[in-house]
Amino acid sequence: MKKTIRRILASAAIIVLSGVMIVFAVNFWYHYQVLEILEERPQGVIAAHGMVVSAHPLASKTGIDILKQGGNAFDAAIAVQFALAVVYPSAGNIGGGGFLVYRTGDGQVGSLDFREKAPLKAHRTMYLDKRGNPIPRLSLDGALAVGVPGTVDGMVQIAGKLGSLPFADLIQPAINLARDGVLLTEKQANGYNLAREAFLKLNPHRPYVVRDEPWQAGARLVHADLAETLERIRDRGREGFYGGKTAALLVAEITRGGGLISLEDLAAYRSVWREPIVGSYRSTTVISMPPPSSGGIALLQLLKASEAVSFKTFGHNDDRSVHMMTELERRVYADRAVFLGDPDYYEVPVRSLLSDQYLAGRMSTIDPDQKTDSTEVRAGTLPPAESRETTHFSVVDRWGNAAAITTTLNGGYGSKVFVEGAGFLLNNEMDDFSIKPGVPNMYGLVGGEANAIEPGKRMLSSMTPTILEKDGRLFMVVGTPGGSTIITSVYQTILNVVEHGMTMQQAVSSGRVHSQWLPDQIVIEKGAMGPMEMLQLALKGHTLKVYPSFKSTLGRVAAILVQPDGRYEGAADYRRGVDDTAAGY
Ligand code: DON
Repeated sequence: MKKTIRRILASAAIIVLSGVMIVFAVNFWYHYQVLEILEERPQGVIAAHGMVVSAHPLASKTGIDILKQGGNAFDAAIAVQFALAVVYPSAGNIGGGGFLVYRTGDGQVGSLDFREKAPLKAHRTMYLDKRGNPIPRLSLDGALAVGVPGTVDGMVQIAGKLGSLPFADLIQPAINLARDGVLLTEKQANGYNLAREAFLKLNPHRPYVVRDEPWQAGARLVHADLAETLERIRDRGREGFYGGKTAALLVAEITRGGGLISLEDLAAYRSVWREPIVGSYRSTTVISMPPPSSGGIALLQLLKASEAVSFKTFGHNDDRSVHMMTELERRVYADRAVFLGDPDYYEVPVRSLLSDQYLAGRMSTIDPDQKTDSTEVRAGTLPPAESRETTHFSVVDRWGNAAAITTTLNGGYGSKVFVEGAGFLLNNEMDDFSIKPGVPNMYGLVGGEANAIEPGKRMLSSMTPTILEKDGRLFMVVGTPGGSTIITSVYQTILNVVEHGMTMQQAVSSGRVHSQWLPDQIVIEKGAMGPMEMLQLALKGHTLKVYPSFKSTLGRVAAILVQPDGRYEGAADYRRGVDDTAAGY
């Protein structure tokens, strides 16, 4: 009997020991793999005079050409924005909106809000049925989903205030690209093929990007109508878009699709220069986007609170680091849902949200060993795996001017509505409003009064174009697409450099995690954490969701770091294939 018990115990011990050894071996293998990946591309592109990091090689080249012609970072940024509207139409745009955060070489900082606005005829219940329930996809597809575009006004404003070359010279490269046609990358050919059915369903006419046979990589796509629209903008400035033929075509398209945008909406649209959110984090000063973006406030809340966390000791993506990031994010996203909206319509308590006392109070409820439940509101659903596109680009010049622009149509190809005869796509930004309190939007984000629909109001955004200074000099330019994950991707990229001592490229390439209060879970990019660390997180009570990669829908950071010798390191995100390009000279 005793012998049998001993045998059972011995076998149990062997099983447990083998289990532990396997976990250790897998963990060791994991960390080895991560090191290999980071070593493969230890550093980004290095250049002394200027750098452009964007989502498309032709857009980055366009920016560098402008810098070489003597243009400054703001001239180059305008040229990149227009070039992206041609070479990367799923997110680059003239039918959407975005934000600029800038810092001039002599240290002046500012931001421009060229975010879309709700049409003047918009109202709170426009996406609800008679019973008050959201009508599926009404805020996402077709003409009713479109907000009044802000991009063209934004570019004209930037040129007027910060640019140095004639506006016509900045838009001409995009016109040339549209006229000559662009060779599709594999990713783009696939994108058009996947969106084909939606384009046909959501447009009464047949959009020019739809053809009978599937697109192949290398095919040339000419944007003839878009070239003409861009020429009208070149020749007449904002009037070339918000008035005349373009406005007439846009309103005709919206009216055909049952949308609300009128000529009056277009004539009334104005982008707004706003004081950026500025705060300190360790030895840096962070300059980021104020409301109607939630990005700047959320990022600074996270970074300020992070000063009290020993990330350096814990290590990158250690379970203690991820636990603390998650707990901070849970609280910050809960604030976002209640307090943040368009400051022209809703008083956002910026100072309170960023006060040390408030943040210390929020932090004091964090248990280092156990997760807190996100209980108050019912759990949101996982963001659907549909294509979403926004794009960020970062530009610096030889004078130390820096521009960080995040620009978007919201979803991939926005509302999927093409303006017939004008060759461009319209956004579906209306979905960024809270269409009903507590009902999650496309990114699983919930909201209430602060972000409710009102005529002329701007919808809350997560876009976080950000610039860091150190010792009074430019230090980093950073931003990304990714909907609700934008804030956490920018946050981690900054932590990776400041806390973990990574190069810009390593900081961009490293595996990411994401959490946003609701749904109450941590999304972990495959390979971002070792099995041991994930086990530890689960023991702290967290629900983990491993995503194959953030590449299909989420973060795509474009960042620039100033080296100690003053040169720039540009880092593109290679998760989403090879289109993203850092170009320097
Ligand atoms: O403004 C926002 O927060 C969203 N419309 C951004 C969308 C986005 O990042 C999609 N990209 N992947």
